[in-house]
Amino acid sequence: MKILETKYMGLRLKNPIIAGSCGLTSTVEGIKKLADSGVSAVVLKSVFEEEIIKEHEDTLKNDLGAFENNMEFLDYFDYQLKDNVLGKMASLIEEAKKVIDIPIIGSLNCATSGEWFSYARQLEKAGVDALELNVFKLPFDVEMEAGEQERLYLSIIEKVKQYVQIPVAVKIAPYSSNLAALVKKMDDAGADAITMFNRFYNVDFDIMTDEVKAGNPYSSEQDYYNTLRWVSIMSGKLTCDLSASTGIHSAETAIKMLMAGAATVQVVSKLYKDGVGSVAGILKNIELWMDKRGYVSIDEFRGSVHHEPKENSERFERVQFMRYFSDHYPHQIL
Ligand SMILES: Cc1cc2nc3c(=O)[nH]c(=O)nc-3n(C[C@H](O)[C@H](O)[C@H](O)COP(=O)(O)O)c2cc1C
Repeated sequence: MKILETKYMGLRLKNPIIAGSCGLTSTVEGIKKLADSGVSAVVLKSVFEEEIIKEHEDTLKNDLGAFENNMEFLDYFDYQLKDNVLGKMASLIEEAKKVIDIPIIGSLNCATSGEWFSYARQLEKAGVDALELNVFKLPFDVEMEAGEQERLYLSIIEKVKQYVQIPVAVKIAPYSSNLAALVKKMDDAGADAITMFNRFYNVDFDIMTDEVKAGNPYSSEQDYYNTLRWVSIMSGKLTCDLSASTGIHSAETAIKMLMAGAATVQVVSKLYKDGVGSVAGILKNIELWMDKRGYVSIDEFRGSVHHEPKENSERFERVQFMRYFSDHYPHQIL
């Protein structure tokens, strides 16, 4: 009998596989299917502040008519509209809670710093067991200093933590001018977990029509290397948990993330490509591997492998880089 039980942000999970935030977690049926497949928690599809603003603008345009210039009414209306989107989310949580018994993690993505804590609080009231803040904004602004962006992230974490009692994870992008320092500061600011990493809408071009189109939204099974590197670099340096996300398509990759020190792993593209039922196979194969290696519990091998000596990681990376390219392209490099 293998013990897959895992603690994540203080939540007791029956195993380390979580369904990450995506369309599959946006309906009660989807959430129920995922729970039946064996995942230990679900992260709901994010509430995006823009959706609320869009609904707000459309409704104002279509329905307001004679009330257009009445500020009191606008205030009331604004409140009602926000309530609508979050109200729908609250009923989703309430209905899902009736049919599943695994934790539900709410997900938020706000564009303005003021709204984070108010939405966070409403999701907490609606009954989520934890929150995941999807804080990343692409750094488009050529005038914005890296430190400014960093301060924005930290203030969001500090604020949300003041307003809610439930654990708060922060889902980040792999892009930062100083990722290790940023993650450490997020830990210090009170994040209960860091989810590494988000995957964004990819831009592609059609070379026959000159049109901009969407790139492939799904990861491939080779896309896990960067996450593995960073989980490995950061685990052991933080008080908060790490959740590995991006490119986890197999038991083997999930095991690598756990060996690197992740508390949990999140799967999304695998669910879209091979169906929700594929979770059972991943869990089974983790158990088979544990059997082969003589492990009884996940905690026995979590954080057991580091890709670098702790003391001199920079030098280690340089040497590996030189060796890799001299092995593969001996004539060009050396
Ligand atoms: C169709 C789709 C919808 C997604 N929606 C969200 C979302 O609403 N919020 C979020 O934080 N991440 C969202 N993601 C990102 C995933 O949660 C995940 O971080 C990313 O896909 C990398 O994991 P994977 O390699 O297992 O797909 C979405 C991904 C996909 C493919």
